Amino acid sequence: MQRLFSLVTFLGAASLAVGQATDVTTGALGDAQPVTTNPEVGETWVATFDSDAVKGTVTAVAAEVGVNYTIDVTGLAEENGPYKYHIHVSPVPESGSCADTGGHLDPYQRRDTPPCESTLPQTCEVGDLSGKYGLLDGGDVEKVFNDAYSSLNATEVGYIGGRAVVFQDGSGARIACATLVKVEDACEQ
Ligand SMILES: *[C@@H]1O[C@H](CO)[C@@H](O)[C@H](O)[C@H]1NC(C)=O
Ligand SMILES: *[C@@H]1O[C@H](CO)[C@@H](O)[C@H](O)[C@H]1NC(C)=O
Repeated sequence: MQRLFSLVTFLGAASLAVGQATDVTTGALGDAQPVTTNPEVGETWVATFDSDAVKGTVTAVAAEVGVNYTIDVTGLAEENGPYKYHIHVSPVPESGSCADTGGHLDPYQRRDTPPCESTLPQTCEVGDLSGKYGLLDGGDVEKVFNDAYSSLNATEVGYIGGRAVVFQDGSGARIACATLVKVEDACEQ
């Protein structure tokens, strides 16, 4: 009996060591949880960009799990990439200043260093979309992905409604930002 207990203790310690060996950082509050409580599947929000740096839309549609995003933009200068794109906590203020949209949406307190491990998106900041789904080279971009951790349930921690989508160029400068606004008359899906 004593021997069995020792073996179990040993295996437990060994698996802990393996877990640490992978060296993946997650949030101080743990991994992000998949969202299955969107009030209405198909509810659509859109951030509209119309500047010299970038034109087009980032669309967010409430899905069965999380949010389906479509990035449909033109104008990102290829020589200034690759580009990051994040959900920031605050909307774009009246001044239009992207510097004033706050930090990344990060309800699980992951922070952005070390960089997000894209094969383990649940360990990344909720708002670090490019960390999870890839950088953009620029030019004409059409990119579609599902993020299980973004929410359109206003009482949940991963809520993205009314927050800013921000593009960063290769130097890290915030080159464009737009607030996600609800499309009231979205067609039936
Ligand atoms: C929205 O989230 C809250 C908190 O998790 C939950 O109580 C509520 O039922 C959710 N709404 C829907 C429509 O599932
Ligand atoms: C979200 O994307 C998934 C995967 O492509 C798709 O099956 C689903 O129908 C989409 N949901 C909505 C509401 O667009």
